[in-house]
Amino acid sequence: MKTRGFFGKIATVAATCAAGALALSGCAGGGAGGATGSDSGAASNGGTVKVGVAMPTQTSERWIADGNAVKSGLEAAGYEVDLQFANDDIPTQTQQIDQMITNGATMLVIAAIDGTALSSQLDTAGAKNIPVIAYDRLIRDNENVDFYVSFDNFKVGVAQGNALLYGLGLTDKDGKKLDSAPKGPLNIELFAGSPDDNNAKFFFDGAMSVLRPFLDDGTLVVKSGQTSFDQVAILRWQQEVAQKRMEDLLTSTYGGGSEPLAGVLSPFDGISRGIITALQGAGYGPTIKDGLPAVTGQDAEIASAKMINDGIQQSTIFKDTRTLAAQSVTVIKAMAEGSEPEANDTTTYNNGVKVVPSYLLEVETIYTDNLKEKLIDSGYYTQADVDAGVVKK
Ligand code: BGC
Repeated sequence: MKTRGFFGKIATVAATCAAGALALSGCAGGGAGGATGSDSGAASNGGTVKVGVAMPTQTSERWIADGNAVKSGLEAAGYEVDLQFANDDIPTQTQQIDQMITNGATMLVIAAIDGTALSSQLDTAGAKNIPVIAYDRLIRDNENVDFYVSFDNFKVGVAQGNALLYGLGLTDKDGKKLDSAPKGPLNIELFAGSPDDNNAKFFFDGAMSVLRPFLDDGTLVVKSGQTSFDQVAILRWQQEVAQKRMEDLLTSTYGGGSEPLAGVLSPFDGISRGIITALQGAGYGPTIKDGLPAVTGQDAEIASAKMINDGIQQSTIFKDTRTLAAQSVTVIKAMAEGSEPEANDTTTYNNGVKVVPSYLLEVETIYTDNLKEKLIDSGYYTQADVDAGVVKK
């Protein structure tokens, strides 16, 4: 069957809601859904909006928080939710999404492991008029991606680059060059995220956009010479892989730890902790005050929040998963009620087939001096969690 496109899909979901007579309250209803043999999944569930939520992994706490927040937001709106985590394993994620569709999902929210590996699932979703929302990570090379909710990924990279420049004493927190800046050259090394995650390139390009002038004028030097995305990317964002790469760099380029290294661009807190373990193991630090290089991060994971508080990790980028989850719920509600979700970016995210309408949220950079205000006073963590480096249930 030819897909009807986004408006066909939202109309179908809205009609389904109306049949359940609960459209404005969020379209909940009885009925267990059940498998659909027809080509119109959205219309064949007896009025229930059933949302399949596919998250990549539970090894990083941000995705657990995302999954739980999306689930509770959707359940509060009266929808049924099937939440699955895929252990960073692509076949597991594709099977989970196949199963969600078989079980009668009327909408899908997907944070992809590999943004290019879901075409068969999205083709099926398209044929059944099931709207698909790409969550945080864009799904590529398929027309059946209806909406994208994320943070401004290029700006995340800019914030990481600016945090590193600030940590090196070259700029203020906003990236403005300081008169007191050291002349250099200062040695830095670069890390990027997983090459199959569309976000990773945005983060790297954003960071390089602010680091590049300092590399060009010789203030900064990447002593290993490894400056291309392909050379510095860490598959699946793995901490151990990052630690090994940093250890290898220290051996090959920094005399095993005896030569100066001022900072490391890291795109994710797990990677940052791997880098810091390698640096401390080679004798740098143990804290920034004692000469540990400035290492950036992302996600404000609790273990890294503690390390920032303790003066070990220099910074992280806080992406408030509560607001991302709430935005996804807003998008789903709009779709379920038959209206077009509000987008604030309709040009940036071309997935290779089409530009996907997007809603992008802002992020905050966390340093030791604003951690309490941004992470604790906002209720994201308690002081006890940060002190312990774990979230107590
Ligand atoms: C997310 C980041 C996260 C990374 C690793 C990216 O897609 O946008 O917030 O740090 O995945 O999980």
